Amino acid sequence: MPRHLIDITDLTVGEIDGLIATAEDILSHPAAYQDACQRRQLATLFFEPSTRTRLSFESAMLSLGGSVLGFSSAQSSSAAKGETVGDTVRTVSCYADIIAMRHPREGAPYAAAQVSEVPVINAGDGGHNHPTQTLTDLLTLHREKGRLGGFTVGFCGDLKFGRTVHSLVNALSRYGDIRYDFISPVELKLPRYVKEEALKKRGIPYSQTTDLEEVLPELDVLYMTRVQRERFFNEEDYLRLKDSYVLTPAKLARARQDLSILHPLPRVNEITAAVDRDPRAAYWRQVRNGKFIRMALILLLLGLSPGNGGGEGVYEH
Ligand code: CP
Repeated sequence: MPRHLIDITDLTVGEIDGLIATAEDILSHPAAYQDACQRRQLATLFFEPSTRTRLSFESAMLSLGGSVLGFSSAQSSSAAKGETVGDTVRTVSCYADIIAMRHPREGAPYAAAQVSEVPVINAGDGGHNHPTQTLTDLLTLHREKGRLGGFTVGFCGDLKFGRTVHSLVNALSRYGDIRYDFISPVELKLPRYVKEEALKKRGIPYSQTTDLEEVLPELDVLYMTRVQRERFFNEEDYLRLKDSYVLTPAKLARARQDLSILHPLPRVNEITAAVDRDPRAAYWRQVRNGKFIRMALILLLLGLSPGNGGGEGVYEH
């Protein structure tokens, strides 16, 4: 049976630590990995728009010596003729060794995994989960802070539909010694099921507020998110809420000097371009990290990770 990544909890904490270590090794010794996936093919099936996730997956596979195929919109696949996700994935698993799939419907990658003969990676499903963004975020926190616990994290923006937030809260909660401040409009609060599963069961302390400036001075990490037009049923609600939070250099004057600012991107208005010059802005470094953690993940799911025998000799440096 192939190994899939549908939810971040499909990986143990030990496996996540291993992926971070492999990504660090790839960053230091890229040449040692350049032929690791020779003759392997990655299919990127994106039924929803993407820049970072799709292109970082493709760049990751090419940098491992493999090749890529796929589509970047539902309209350019037979989904436009009414083909089901299951039939599409069953077809593509005849051509590719591993599949990264994004879909606007929650649970679609899970359904795909049930019929696929090769590993399926959830590259974002609706407002549900985005586990490879979470791996990117964890690598970034590890590189910025040198640890994955012992800090206060503020999540700000659309916490209701923000799939990157749901996955990261789930992952970081397993590391312990953490507290959260959830900052959002009342209409975009963190869903109850995430609070029950990730926080209440583990007794993790958290607060909920609408006021970013109130909690900003206490934060070690600020995770900003976009209010997502595509998740709203009603344009009027989107327009009312879209500029609820705008991070500026003036607001950051009251924040800690060692704050790390993350954002999964794309951004719209929620962080002004002037903040990019602040050394605390980690989001462009975060983009770069996404490629290397996806390289590590491809190796793991194809059974080619250092230490499991499949990659023997490939990663010597
Ligand atoms: N962070 C992220 O998922 O970006 P894209 O939508 O551009 O892939």
